Amino acid sequence: MKLWHTRDDLQALQSLRKDGPLVLVPTMGALHEGHLDLVRLGSELGQVVVTVFVNPTQFGPNEDFSSYPRTLESDLELLSKLPVSGVFAPATKEIYGSDLEVTVQPGNRGMGLCGGDRPGHFAGVLTVVAKLFGLTQPDVAIFGRKDAQQCLVIGQMVEDLKMPIQLVDAPTRRETDGLAMSSRNRYLSADQRRQALCLSRALSAGKQSMENGCRSRAEVQQTILDILQDADQVEYAEVRQVPDLGKNEILAGKILLAVAARVGPARLIDNFVLQINDKQVTDSYLLGTGRKS
Ligand code: PAJ
Repeated sequence: MKLWHTRDDLQALQSLRKDGPLVLVPTMGALHEGHLDLVRLGSELGQVVVTVFVNPTQFGPNEDFSSYPRTLESDLELLSKLPVSGVFAPATKEIYGSDLEVTVQPGNRGMGLCGGDRPGHFAGVLTVVAKLFGLTQPDVAIFGRKDAQQCLVIGQMVEDLKMPIQLVDAPTRRETDGLAMSSRNRYLSADQRRQALCLSRALSAGKQSMENGCRSRAEVQQTILDILQDADQVEYAEVRQVPDLGKNEILAGKILLAVAARVGPARLIDNFVLQINDKQVTDSYLLGTGRKS
């Protein structure tokens, strides 16, 4: 496994490309099993390159950019045990010049949900992902369904800007009790960790009501919201169409149940992607080429 820090180091990618498709797994480090699942999935598709970069432009002024865990050494240790060809861990100056002039702005899919709570967040994500795509020119890029809206806005960028990259969304990796793995879970005390289970419980209740035949967006949303009240502060509980995040009142087709809430010092998000087929409700994926499980 090679370690690269500079843009010049990335010349090495040319020879990698000869051995098969180049598969990019972008991360901000502080890796957990969810990230490692993306790597495992990527290794089935080609030569995996992981990026580790805590991107300043996707954090708001009062968010956790300065305290975000930076654990490159243990991240490399975890990655070295997997089929990873290389890791790109650049300094900020390798990615951003002195002035950030050209940025990529999200379209409609970036409005509301996390886009509403975190103004500028998706422009920061799209801008850095476009830069990472430009620097590494992958054939395939893998993102986690855990960040569903992120997957959808990146999908729209790739489509609208005609980037020749295949996107794959990977399932959300959970702890055995249902908590979605997140680098931010390490901010939680044992009590807060238990409290945080209300996110996945709320989504399960929403799914259950759909399995019981409910097709009213408002009712499913209320079911989710009732349970999410166990968090310290609810940011949103939303039921939306996929991929456009539309708000059809009668649920049909592919549906995203998405929640965001604060528990102690952490802002946590979680979601389920569900497909309605007549009376059946099954787990699904977001992008054309996602993996269900
Ligand atoms: P980060 O939060 O480090 O996540 C990196 C990738 O891991 C994302 O695609 C995210 O959706 C995925 N991921 C996180 N938790 C997961 C889980 N429990 N199961 C499966 N996948 C999971 O997302 C970002 O970084 C950044 O916004 C980035 C895309 C790197 C741009 O800076």
